Amino acid sequence: MATTWFQDAKAYIEQKTAHNATTIGPFFPHTTLDGHYQLAEPQWWTAGFWPGILWHHYHATQDQATAALAEQLEEKMQPLLSDPSKLDHDMGFMWTLTSLARYDLTHDSKAKTNALLAATLLLGRFNSAGRYLEAWNSWQGADDTSGIVIIDSLMNISLLYWASEETSDPRFAVAATQHAETILREFVREDGSVHHMVNFNSATGEVLEKIGGQGFAEMSAWSRGCAWAIYGFAIAYHYTQKPEFLAASMKIANYFYLHTANSAVPLWDFKIPANTSQTKYDYTDSSAAAIAACGFLLLGRVAAPEEQAFYHDAGTDLLKRLYDHATTPTTDTALITHGTGHWPEQKNLDTGLIYGDYFFSEGIYQLNDVYNIFWLGGHWHDATLQSNTQE
Ligand code: GLY
Repeated sequence: MATTWFQDAKAYIEQKTAHNATTIGPFFPHTTLDGHYQLAEPQWWTAGFWPGILWHHYHATQDQATAALAEQLEEKMQPLLSDPSKLDHDMGFMWTLTSLARYDLTHDSKAKTNALLAATLLLGRFNSAGRYLEAWNSWQGADDTSGIVIIDSLMNISLLYWASEETSDPRFAVAATQHAETILREFVREDGSVHHMVNFNSATGEVLEKIGGQGFAEMSAWSRGCAWAIYGFAIAYHYTQKPEFLAASMKIANYFYLHTANSAVPLWDFKIPANTSQTKYDYTDSSAAAIAACGFLLLGRVAAPEEQAFYHDAGTDLLKRLYDHATTPTTDTALITHGTGHWPEQKNLDTGLIYGDYFFSEGIYQLNDVYNIFWLGGHWHDATLQSNTQE
């Protein structure tokens, strides 16, 4: 019997992940050079994505060696939990896809303790004057970064929502929701694009400036920033049922959809002036498409019933385009290429990015009825979240 493209995509991911488990092993891949992953330190924000891919693989195949490798990676990250000076708000990314994923799949009590410890350290970054989670550590450099908030952080609040449910202590969820409300108020623009960074006065909470960050310019539209916001607000809506979070996710998703409808792989920024004289700027970002696709798929489950098919189909289409245009030869280690890591610093351009791979894997598994949305902290078992699959 002929297979569908998403079954083929799942087979592609499984074959490549099994191979990568032997070639990458217990290290932390970040971005590719000449088709091969280069490694990062365990404290780099991307550390959770390779173990997260391995947990998808374990969930689908029940292969014990894969679980053991993911645990080995988590153990390498363990000393960081006693050294918060090396950690920032990305603890959410890092421990959601390692300890929380392991707890979800194996019910191991040590994994639960690690995830709660990371959530507690993340809660410690909450600034009550500005009602935000501080992104970076001021004490590490000369600059005062105590007022910096970045859009990526919306994904990190998943860990806080999970911790509140696990402990029945509302403090984690209160901070997560107040942070999401601050992002909604200060980051989301009228047209549905988003700012990457906002700098607050950390003593009073007043907004000081809005900053371009990883986008082309302050008022441009960094596509991965939009993608983090689509998925992050959809998750915040899932946990809170606050309609303003759903509306924000849909508004940004609609903006993303309009700006990607005609491209095989979306551009890394949707608002680059046509007459720019800058160095080559028309790179694509496959990671933005993969992250947004997972956000669209979640909207396809949590939006109003008459809206669900649109978002589900749009997410499926983004993944199909990645499968057709961004997958790599068998000799390369990344699942997808044509990502843009950091254009303003001219770093990691037209490359594989481990987070692009992670979200491509998450999305393709869902299309195959294998649910692994660790951001929902166990709720992906809920029948209501599994009701809208397959075309
Ligand atoms: N700073 C996280 C990202 O590149 O999306």
